[in-house]
Amino acid sequence: MSTRTVEEVSVDLLPVHLAGYCPVNFQLPPQLSQHRRPVQTIAVAGGKGGVGKSNVAVNLAAALGVVDHEVLLVDGDLELGNIDRLLNLRPTHTLIDVFAGTCQLDEVVLQGPVGVSVIPSASGAVGMSHLSNVQHAGLIGLFSELPTEADTLIVDIATGLSESVVSFCRAVREVIIVVVDEPPALQDAFSTIRALHERCHVRRFRVVANKTESSRHGLDLYAALSDLTDKHLDVLLDYCGSIPLDTHLKQAVRQQRAVVEAFPRSASALAFRKLATRVARWPQPQTPCGHIEFFVERLIEVADGTR
Ligand SMILES: Nc1ncnc2c1ncn2[C@@H]1O[C@H](COP(=O)(O)OP(=O)(O)OP(=O)(O)O)[C@@H](O)[C@H]1O
Ligand SMILES: [Mg+2]
Repeated sequence: MSTRTVEEVSVDLLPVHLAGYCPVNFQLPPQLSQHRRPVQTIAVAGGKGGVGKSNVAVNLAAALGVVDHEVLLVDGDLELGNIDRLLNLRPTHTLIDVFAGTCQLDEVVLQGPVGVSVIPSASGAVGMSHLSNVQHAGLIGLFSELPTEADTLIVDIATGLSESVVSFCRAVREVIIVVVDEPPALQDAFSTIRALHERCHVRRFRVVANKTESSRHGLDLYAALSDLTDKHLDVLLDYCGSIPLDTHLKQAVRQQRAVVEAFPRSASALAFRKLATRVARWPQPQTPCGHIEFFVERLIEVADGTR
């Protein structure tokens, strides 16, 4: 297996990134030609802190794992990562070590619940929110060399609009926006959508209403967000349902487990199963999108018909 560092991959990717096109003549090293299939790539974002992004990411991953998807869950909150704590994992290495060049990406992967593989970030890693887009591109490029059978990559996105938020959302096919019923959360969700649309040209956003009191409540929340985007932006919103405010989820958090695993019959677990069914029906990426993205070489390979 190749053992390139973030810096080496950044150097490869820099001209591609700047030119804004895909390296269609890229040749895969022969040792990387196994484990090749397109990977669905999803970012779970939302703007405001505490809306439930990490819990949605964890439980969507677990709910897909339950129905035999191979999921790679990445803690994209490089400064205040908490996926390891949500799942009671004890990482010896995190993404900060990959950036520091002291370990390889595959050494960071941990086994989580229901077959979900987890790439943890450090918590309290000051300075990790100031990485450049070239450094992010280097990290994203490393995923193509990861020996994984994953069919789905889920990235838990940090709060705010830092460079990592922009880089990771640009590098996936699907962006889920988590929104809750609080005026700042709605406004932050809108600002996040606007920023990702303007800076990353994301046009389609999947919306999940969290901490809802009823399905009507979720729909109303979606309608309010949709009113805002319809007035100001040329984007498509797709409502993917709601996750109820659920004490079982809070209990699962205290037990450091996914609610889908700890309380599979709870209202929130059932809602996550429904969300996973919907997500599994989304179109799979088939061709490179033309800029830096996760697992791009697999798409190049498929597009070239080399398999
Ligand atoms: N559906 C829900 N029902 C009950 N509690 C919830 C629900 N979703 C999230 N929470 C609670 O909300 C809190 C914040 O959740 P979480 O950490 O997932 O949010 P976040 O958006 O990732 O926050 P941060 O901005 O810190 O990354 C947690 O204490 C969690 O238990
Ligand atoms: Mg979080």
